[in-house]
Amino acid sequence: MPGAELNKVNTVMSHNFETLREEALARIAAAETLQALDEVRVAFLGRKGPVSEIMRGLAQAPPEERKEIGQKANALKDAVAAALETRKAELDAAMQRHKAREESADLSLPGRCIPSGHVHVINQIMEELIAIFTQMGFQVALGPDVETEYYNFDALNTPDDHPARDSHDTFFVKPGVVLRTQTSPVQIRVMERTPPPVAIVAPGRVYRVDLDATHSPMFVQMEGLLVDKGITFADLKGTLVHFIHAFFGPDIQMRFRPHFFPFTEPSAEVDILWTARDRHTGETKSKWLEILGCGMVHPQVFKNVSYDYEAYSGYAFGLGLDRIAMVRHGISSITHLYENDLRFLEQF
Ligand code: DAH
Repeated sequence: MPGAELNKVNTVMSHNFETLREEALARIAAAETLQALDEVRVAFLGRKGPVSEIMRGLAQAPPEERKEIGQKANALKDAVAAALETRKAELDAAMQRHKAREESADLSLPGRCIPSGHVHVINQIMEELIAIFTQMGFQVALGPDVETEYYNFDALNTPDDHPARDSHDTFFVKPGVVLRTQTSPVQIRVMERTPPPVAIVAPGRVYRVDLDATHSPMFVQMEGLLVDKGITFADLKGTLVHFIHAFFGPDIQMRFRPHFFPFTEPSAEVDILWTARDRHTGETKSKWLEILGCGMVHPQVFKNVSYDYEAYSGYAFGLGLDRIAMVRHGISSITHLYENDLRFLEQF
């Protein structure tokens, strides 16, 4: 009887070994991820799994069957472990293939261009102008955009009731403080802090209440000032002729035309003869275009900065950079320069 009992246990066991094995192999084959595979490993080979249970039950088994049960349990364990190993290798390989496909680069694809920015056309011109004037010995000076009325007007011999103020439609920040309407106040600031001689150019933004094809509420000027002993109008002329030839080329025609500015006496404007080709008719047309104002520094301006106006003389000039850009590139409206439309800006 005990023999029959043991036999039964053994039979059940044998039966279980086979089913366990089949079940384990089926679940291993079905595992699609490493995590699922590990769950199968824990379920069959873990501490609470059937293999461990059989091993623990070995002590209760009849001695003559222990060996066989032990062998079968070990064989089951080895078979499951081997199947796990194989499946893991398969899953690893599949993952590698997937990753390679995801990450692979198609070297035949055309490159992607990163759009590159560049210097704005006004700043290009500013850099060129600064190069021309610094080569002649001028230094660059800067002043504030928000300026007092004193520097913007009074010190430049343009008092409150002066009609010249009317031509500058001024933005007021508060009483006595304005957005500078010209770069000329930098002349005053430089002379106040520097004893003569001085030779500076002062580029910067200026502001006026104005808006049409040739006027923008904000535009860019460059001021020039040279003060020393014995400076004459001939020096002014020579400097400006050199600058205009350096910038527009030696064949450009220019003229000085008498004008009025409150801070220079005598004063003049300089025009260049600009020849442009009509885009529609192909005809070439020439016209005189004003590009700068200039003159000999007014003695009152020297008095305002405590310069000895009998010992020193000087000249000053003010250039409109927008005007120069428009002339050089045939730009029809000043507003193009400040709208930041890339289709426009990329042409320069
Ligand atoms: N500030 C003048 C303007 O904005 C330009 C100018 C004229 C500047 C004559 C000067 C000068 O320095 O001498 O219209």
